[in-house]
Amino acid sequence: MRKALTGTLAVLMSVSLSAGEVTKGEALFLKLCWGCHHQTAEAFGPSFASIAGKRSDSQIQGQIVRPDLLYKELGYTRNAMPPFALTGEELQDITAYIKSFK
Ligand code: HEC
Repeated sequence: MRKALTGTLAVLMSVSLSAGEVTKGEALFLKLCWGCHHQTAEAFGPSFASIAGKRSDSQIQGQIVRPDLLYKELGYTRNAMPPFALTGEELQDITAYIKSFK
């Protein structure tokens, strides 16, 4: 009984942690990305829903930090996205937000 309860608590805690990342990621998205990306519709850049379905965390984070190094690997012929100097924590948050559209 006690073991089951501890397990439930651990699950609840991890759910609320990633929910926190998603919320912080949304704030970053609205501040930095929204002009070019929308959640589910294609804009100047691809939608977060389409990115979530086909990219790994490291591809997403690489593109944010160094699009000049990643755009070819991701299949683009132009590099139209500016680089963003985000902290490790901000990268986690924005990735969690993008992945929430999977
Ligand atoms: C000035 C417009 C612009 C802004 C601002 C911008 N992007 Fe982009 N992004 C693009 C474009 C355009 C592409 C497609 C590649 C290209 O043409 O350079 C892209 C591609 C991407 C990709 C790779 C897409 C794929 O196929 O997997 C990711 C991930 C991404 N952007 C995330 C972000 C995030 C996160 C932010 C905010 C921190 C952001 N972008 C801000 C324009 C932008």
